[in-house]
Amino acid sequence: LATSKEFHSPVYKDEIPTPALLLDLDLFERNLNKMADFLNQKHIDFRPHAKTHKCPVIAKKQLERGAKGICVAKLSEAEVMIAEGIQEILITSEIVSKSKIEQLIALARQCPSLLAVVDHPQPVRDFMEAAESRKVKLNVVIDIDGGNHRAGCLPGRPALDLADLIARSNWLKLCGIQCYAGHVAHTVGFEARMKSSQEALERALESKALIEKYGFPIEMVTGGSTGSYNIDSQIQGFTELQAGSYIFMDLDYRRIGSDRGKVFLDFEFALTVVATVISQSHPNLATVDGGFKAFATDKPFTPELKNITGVSFRWAGDEHGILELGDPGQEIKLGDRLEFLTPHCDPTVNLYDRLYVVRADRVEDIWPIAARGKSQ
Ligand SMILES: Cc1ncc(COP(=O)(O)O)c(C=O)c1O
Repeated sequence: LATSKEFHSPVYKDEIPTPALLLDLDLFERNLNKMADFLNQKHIDFRPHAKTHKCPVIAKKQLERGAKGICVAKLSEAEVMIAEGIQEILITSEIVSKSKIEQLIALARQCPSLLAVVDHPQPVRDFMEAAESRKVKLNVVIDIDGGNHRAGCLPGRPALDLADLIARSNWLKLCGIQCYAGHVAHTVGFEARMKSSQEALERALESKALIEKYGFPIEMVTGGSTGSYNIDSQIQGFTELQAGSYIFMDLDYRRIGSDRGKVFLDFEFALTVVATVISQSHPNLATVDGGFKAFATDKPFTPELKNITGVSFRWAGDEHGILELGDPGQEIKLGDRLEFLTPHCDPTVNLYDRLYVVRADRVEDIWPIAARGKSQ
């Protein structure tokens, strides 16, 4: 990917063409270090989810800071990361079609430590056949439903049956269990979140005990999120955390509350979208050059201005957002560049080709979001 340095080389934050994605390097580094130090202290492995940033530069920083590997959601994201020399990768979504299984085998040949999840006997049989015919070993992880029925086999007997099937092939290696409970991550209130996370992981840990009782060792129990980082890490038998959003933070996470209060500010808002006021014909309105194409719109709340209160944002189309200024005298004027906190970081990042990495008012670097749009 050609970075904008080739056609536009902003030295100062004020020169970045908007709308753009900004990463505050100081805050990013604090988030990076805080999670790494926390998990290190708890003796829990870290496999951060790269679906959040889709950026090999960030993945490498997470690995340098002690992560055991990374997660990706899709094969095409894995391809990008492998091309950048990253090897320890878990693909956390199920792969079932024949063509994707062939692609998985080709990637596993290049990257023998690649891990793929399974939750049904059919793809396990297809994996076996493809691995055997291509003479490539495949590492697999049994995905167990964490209770929200998004994916994963049922705990207990179905998980054991999968382990038994996997063990029949010399070409498959059972490496662990995944249990990601998506509903837990954003459960509001620390106590409620702790309860639902414990319930979800209990299903996985009981299945682990059952599978091991039948002689199949399970070394890895992987899952969890930014919202459950300080819950799952206390649970005996849980071995690695998959948190992703901690690196950027977003408004959806802020509202979940922490063990210290009603807002979750364990990690800082390192990611913002900067937009410019391009029209201001009404006394208490201002229009910015960022709308549906600048922010993910899946949440029931809108972007929020960083460091400015009393102003609300409403969607005004693909390329426009309108600011409603509580006080007409408010200091927002044509040409102003404003930074917004994003409602949901992962799908917002997927809208941009590059991250402008800033420290104070300077652009320190531009990092390509190389796996942006890689959803296959
Ligand atoms: C399988 C899996 N693991 C981990 C995560 C990371 O969660 P978060 O970004 O909320 O930390 C996600 C996010 O959707 C996920 O799908």
